[in-house]
Amino acid sequence: MEDVLLVYASMSGNTEAIADIIEEVLKEHSVNVRRAEVYEIDTRDIESVPHIIFGSYTWGDGELPDDFLDFYDEMDEIDFTNKKVAVFGSGDTSYDIFCGAVDLLEEKVKKLNGTIMVDGLKVELAPFGEDVETCKEFAVAIVNSIRQTIS
Ligand SMILES: Cc1cc2nc3c(=O)[nH]c(=O)nc-3n(C[C@H](O)[C@H](O)[C@H](O)COP(=O)(O)O)c2cc1C
Repeated sequence: MEDVLLVYASMSGNTEAIADIIEEVLKEHSVNVRRAEVYEIDTRDIESVPHIIFGSYTWGDGELPDDFLDFYDEMDEIDFTNKKVAVFGSGDTSYDIFCGAVDLLEEKVKKLNGTIMVDGLKVELAPFGEDVETCKEFAVAIVNSIRQTIS
């Protein structure tokens, strides 16, 4: 069984680029990670893992993109008690609600009794320069949190 499931949605590749960095860091630290786009998974996939990382870009007016909406509704069927979750996303600061999808997913997890293991990561468009380091630090913080659970 994997230690962590990395689930994301990305239309133009920016969120996917963040997922790439996170996945690489997890693997460097020997964390067993399964990566999937949100349309590939269902509630059973979530139920079977103790740690989940969600990634989404933001659409509309600070909203989740259509790709995430069905899953967002299905999340209500999952008991997130004892699950540790981290959320990241790409957005654009020229919009009023920057990376609103990150906040929406975090709020949903908390409402369903999940634990946010690392504060949400919000990246302007594609990770570049210092943002790459920030993404790596986010991933290392996840590794540390996972180690606390499984050690
Ligand atoms: C129609 C539209 C609405 C958007 N709304 C928001 C928004 O409310 N907040 C935000 O931070 N970014 C918003 N964005 C920007 C995207 O989230 C941003 O381009 C992101 O990097 C796309 O990620 P992706 O390459 O993974 O698809 C919007 C983009 C479009 C085209």
